[in-house]
Amino acid sequence: MERMISLGKDRIFIFDTTLRDGEQAAGGNLNVTEKLQIARQLSRLGVDVIEAGFPASSPGDFACVSAIAESIGKKARPDGSTPIIAGLSRTTEQDVRAAYDAVKEAKRHRIHIFIATSPIHMEHKLHMTPEDVLKEIRFSVSLAKGLVDDVEFSAEDASRSELPFVIEAFKTAVESGATTLNIPDTVGYATPEEFQSFCHAIIEGVKAPASVVYSVHCHNDLGLAVSNSLAAVLAGVRQVECTINGLGERAGNASLEEIAMAVKMRIDRYGAKTNLDTTKLQATSALVSRLSGVIVPPNKAIVGANAFAHQAGIHQHGVLMNPLTYEIMKPEDVGASGTELVLGKHSGRHAFRDRIEHLGYVLTDDQVQTAFQLFKKLCDSKKGISDEDIAAMIADEILSVTTENLYDLKHCSVKTGDGPTLAVITLSCGDGGEISDAATGNGPIDAAYRAIRRAIDLEPELLTFNIKATSDRSDALGETTVLLRSGEVTAPGRAVSTDVIESAVKAFISGVNRLHVIAEARKVELVKKPKNHYE
Ligand code: KIV
Ligand code: ZN
Repeated sequence: MERMISLGKDRIFIFDTTLRDGEQAAGGNLNVTEKLQIARQLSRLGVDVIEAGFPASSPGDFACVSAIAESIGKKARPDGSTPIIAGLSRTTEQDVRAAYDAVKEAKRHRIHIFIATSPIHMEHKLHMTPEDVLKEIRFSVSLAKGLVDDVEFSAEDASRSELPFVIEAFKTAVESGATTLNIPDTVGYATPEEFQSFCHAIIEGVKAPASVVYSVHCHNDLGLAVSNSLAAVLAGVRQVECTINGLGERAGNASLEEIAMAVKMRIDRYGAKTNLDTTKLQATSALVSRLSGVIVPPNKAIVGANAFAHQAGIHQHGVLMNPLTYEIMKPEDVGASGTELVLGKHSGRHAFRDRIEHLGYVLTDDQVQTAFQLFKKLCDSKKGISDEDIAAMIADEILSVTTENLYDLKHCSVKTGDGPTLAVITLSCGDGGEISDAATGNGPIDAAYRAIRRAIDLEPELLTFNIKATSDRSDALGETTVLLRSGEVTAPGRAVSTDVIESAVKAFISGVNRLHVIAEARKVELVKKPKNHYE
């Protein structure tokens, strides 16, 4: 078997426990396919160790860890490395053997044994004396060492344990064959300065051979998990245990993406590198969020939706002049799509003009001035202003285009009943003419939209569709909003009517009209339907 990890003072090993500590907290709701998906992504991200689960805890967990060891643990990454697949184990023979059986097919595998060393845990949870605990460590670590080279030992609740006893526990683990010594702040009680000194004292006290790696595993009960982990790095710890999005028990674990970027951005401070491809952080975070059902707050560092969004006018102006004024890292470095200047009531003229130009409009200074005033008014009635809102405002108010020059609904009838729904549409056109067509569809709105697409010269793609009642009474108005796309142009449409079908049809037509107006103003082509497309 390969040696577990090559040591180097300049390297921080990332041990990801999203699938064990994180998943435990998310209610254990990930199935084997989802866990495999996450493990594959973690491997692509470049984590050193994937803690795939706690095999003895349930047959399902055993199966997931084995499946990950079998596939992800055997698949080499582009640099030829494979991640270490770890399985968690208590100190019993049954646990250790289950962990071994589950991870053994991985090219590099680890058994991770834990037992608590704090007085409160030993007395009230384990009902063991410190001597009993040392005996358990000796037994389980030696047993594991007989099965694998790579054994990690964790002194659970280390930060609330007595220093001399933790040192003794770690010495026992090393004598029994442990190659990684993990110092957990299980209840998130430590503070950075204190934890740094604690880790330093452990390293000094255990005096383990240089090949032994010290590790930390911090929980976030006081919001200090990342700070404590980084403080431990300063003390000489070289493995950090963490989870994607900080998922984990109670307030979570140290967040992998925050550790990764802090180490990368402040290499001057930490003097060490991870092996992570940080451009995959955003995608990994999104995957874990989607599969675990745990939403990432918008203001979450590194991967939150607002992590690179600037709202204040002064900031927006600064970022437009030079992104470094208010951004310490590039969005691309974490795989985010780019700096976002959120247009809202705090935005200034610079940011507004920049967005208009970015959207492709060429307006005169007077038009920009009028548009800016209208935009400020809009900000008072609407929270976030999207690009589509701006496009609609420019089409309707600045370029003064009304539907008279384009399409208007003259007639719409739908026939429902047995079989497919049929819609017949007649539109009046800006040139004084009329066009009609009919189509069947999956319900009246789908049929009507197909009929419109047949009648006009475009086939706009429906990106979003929303219909809602304006009150809770049966005579409520139906308000429909749609977002259409043709080529590189997107445009919103909106309409209100007591007849929900009419409201939906008119919203579609208003979107089509705006597509034309926006394309005209931006001097770009819409995607026209080939002639006789439906004949
Ligand atoms: O929080 C903790 O102490 C743990 C151990 C099992 C490492 O998760
Ligand atoms: Zn934990």
